[in-house]
Amino acid sequence: MAISIVIGSDHGGLALKGFLVDVLKKRGIPVEDVGAHSLESCDYPRYAHEVAEKVLAGAPTGMLGILVCGTGLGMSMTANRTPGIRAAVCTDEYMARMARAHNNANILCLGERVVGPGLAQAILDAFLDTGFEGGRHQRRVEAIELPKA
Ligand code: RB5
Repeated sequence: MAISIVIGSDHGGLALKGFLVDVLKKRGIPVEDVGAHSLESCDYPRYAHEVAEKVLAGAPTGMLGILVCGTGLGMSMTANRTPGIRAAVCTDEYMARMARAHNNANILCLGERVVGPGLAQAILDAFLDTGFEGGRHQRRVEAIELPKA
């Protein structure tokens, strides 16, 4: 299935988001940028919720999400409030590979104040180029969504 991306950031992730949009375009991956579009201070939850909703709606077509803020933390906390979203903050390639292979993460969260552009690109490439392994991990990922007994 062909991958497409919806991406969002707050002001703290704006520059890295712009860099990653260029990386995605160079890879020929369709990308929708929901904002922010300026460095004016703004609240990250708005963009996290918007990307989470779009990723859920686009899941049947292979859509994944990217969220960037200062640390990636606020974005992941917010996006993970939406059932069906598995947003992973990754600070190295290994985490990105495992987030896809074992956790079937559907949103990659990055911190512009934590990783530089070169590392962010390597993390993104690892995230995009790794598939979910399924098997025993399928059961565990499904259990994330189960209501409390
Ligand atoms: C904004 O200053 C910063 O708090 C935000 O980008 C993010 O790091 C929150 O988790």
